[in-house]
Amino acid sequence: MPQMSPVNRIFIILALLPFLGCGKKSANMEKSQAQTITEGYYQEAHRPRFHFSPPAKWMNDPNGMFFYEGEYHLFYQYYPDDVVWGPMHWGHAVSTDLIHWDHLPIALYPDSMGYIFSGSAVVDHKNTSGLAPEGQSPLIAIFTYHDPEGEKAGRNDYQYQGIAYSLDKGRTWTKYKGNPVVPNPGLKDFRDPKVFWYEKDQHWVMIFARGDRVQIYNSPNLIDWVLTGEFGETYGGHGGVWECPDLFELAIDGNPENKKWVMLLSINPGGPNKGSATQYFVGDFDGKTFISDNPGDVSLWLDYGTDNYAGVTWSDVPASDGRRLFIGWMSNWLYANRVPTDPWRSAMTIPRTLQLVSTEAGVRIKTEPVAELGLIRGEEKNIPPQTISGAMPITKDSGNLAELVLSFDTKGTTATEFGVELTNGKGEKVRIGYEKAGNRFYIDRRQSGRNDFSEEFAGIHYAPHSGETTTLSLHLLVDVASVELFAQEGLVVMTEIFFPSEPFTQMNLYSEGGEAVFTGGKATELKGVW
Ligand code: FRU
Repeated sequence: MPQMSPVNRIFIILALLPFLGCGKKSANMEKSQAQTITEGYYQEAHRPRFHFSPPAKWMNDPNGMFFYEGEYHLFYQYYPDDVVWGPMHWGHAVSTDLIHWDHLPIALYPDSMGYIFSGSAVVDHKNTSGLAPEGQSPLIAIFTYHDPEGEKAGRNDYQYQGIAYSLDKGRTWTKYKGNPVVPNPGLKDFRDPKVFWYEKDQHWVMIFARGDRVQIYNSPNLIDWVLTGEFGETYGGHGGVWECPDLFELAIDGNPENKKWVMLLSINPGGPNKGSATQYFVGDFDGKTFISDNPGDVSLWLDYGTDNYAGVTWSDVPASDGRRLFIGWMSNWLYANRVPTDPWRSAMTIPRTLQLVSTEAGVRIKTEPVAELGLIRGEEKNIPPQTISGAMPITKDSGNLAELVLSFDTKGTTATEFGVELTNGKGEKVRIGYEKAGNRFYIDRRQSGRNDFSEEFAGIHYAPHSGETTTLSLHLLVDVASVELFAQEGLVVMTEIFFPSEPFTQMNLYSEGGEAVFTGGKATELKGVW
């Protein structure tokens, strides 16, 4: 899609405002969006430039992503009346390139059955549900109803799965009259359905979180579901409740003859650096039950940073494309409700591709930003090989250079640690580096600026370096208030947010305790998408 000018966007959104108000619950959203627009669209302090964030108010998990007729749909947990979590709706946006997004009216509102919690959406190509007129394919959203009254009353059965359908490219949604399609049998934490078509046996599969495990259901028509399996009670991390699972098949090392199933599983708390995080399992799936190859006590983390949660993948990406596309919520329940942004809260990660690769340690996920990022790449500068001692500017004025690809060699490096730092005139900084003694990567946001909003925020967070090699590759995406690190060709990922009191306009390579051997790299400008 050609990039729309901000002015065009403003007109489109102003034109949309009457529709945004089509439910009384969004009256405040109208007001705050209008304010945001007149004050400068997406120009507020800490507003991400190339990441998705809602125009105004509270957002958490990505929901219901699917691709249909040229559009990537992104729904999200949304509370249109405040900047803190509240009665959940599904906000909605579409993109033709995963990078530039157009906001659409709220897709699903709470009703007498409850709030609309996280879930997924699919294209019902064969109209198995019968919810479209003959010959058409309905879009079906599958979500959790959360009944706040039941919860308040201390009952266990206040979450159940419902569906809604759209016959107009996702623009309007009708809730199915027979909801819930999966009633609650008396179990607490019974939520976040992810649905997909199991081609081999021609049926639908639903996987959702049930406390300390996942449950797997089958259906011929997205309406009638039977329980076929459970997984996880004795597998992976259990420092918190399990949420937002996903399950899909991927080729190993790109070989379509050699495939494995991957289960993504978000856990809160219990992440490797505290709070919310997403683990994964590699194994086999026969349409009914999942068997993990990872030993029970091993946790594999999709992202070691503190700020990538509840992420799942797009459904219905055409086979001709073949990518497994992922997006996550760039925050953490430890402090999400208190981060210093206004009039919105939270952003999503950059959309990413997930692949399976074989490593010495076993089959692992490799994560990369989507290739469409190329649409916003601007000026590119080479950074020549050099020996780093102390702090050395990457380029004279590195302020707008937001993608970094850097290589170091630990052989010949005498430094105890080294990496890249983002800094400003106030001496605030974020360091993304490697610590030799611990053979580990880190992000240090202890002096990143505003951190008074939560005791849990300031900190240094680590990710193990997974290999023996002396060459270290770092690929970084730096936005106004976040950094995403893809280290070791995407085998080690860290995503973190920060809130400097002035923008980070300077980037330095740095070393501590000696010299670091920098073997070269480049810095590329990334243009804003709003
Ligand atoms: C994950 C989560 C989900 C739930 C949603 C509610 O962040 O807790 O389990 O469906 O958020 O907003």
